[in-house]
Amino acid sequence: MKIAVGSDHAGYELKEKIAEHLKNQDLTVEDYGTNGNNSVDYPDFAMTVAEAVSQGRIDRGILICGTGIGMSIAANKFPHVRAALCYDVYSAEMSRRHNNANILVLAGRVLKIGLAINMVDVWLKTEFEGGRHKSRIDKIGKIEKKFMKGEKK
Ligand code: RB5
Repeated sequence: MKIAVGSDHAGYELKEKIAEHLKNQDLTVEDYGTNGNNSVDYPDFAMTVAEAVSQGRIDRGILICGTGIGMSIAANKFPHVRAALCYDVYSAEMSRRHNNANILVLAGRVLKIGLAINMVDVWLKTEFEGGRHKSRIDKIGKIEKKFMKGEKK
């Protein structure tokens, strides 16, 4: 599985720890920055990761900012992206089982490293359940198509 990680300055330290954790596993990890504590703008990093997921160049993304809110808003602008902002293991698991989330968004200023690592591990190993959940995801795809075409209704 190919995974991209990205953060702003508020998510930098957690992003570094998660990237290191993932690199110790059988995973291909691409780090899209940021690369230090200097203040940067989260949409720039949401864009690089979300675009790669949207275009199918990577399988999954992990985005981190202070609260996760800005990253999730920005990432979900991209077609085929289902970015889930999660604060606990249960929501991380359910974001895969029910929502087929392809980007996990985390809050660097809220989560302790141990919890964040547990969330990432659960999120990566949990499969999408499909069935009724797939038809709901398909409805989101229809909304995406409608607005991409600029249709009124
Ligand atoms: C940066 O100060 C902060 O606004 C950002 O990391 C994020 O929390 C935005 O949603």
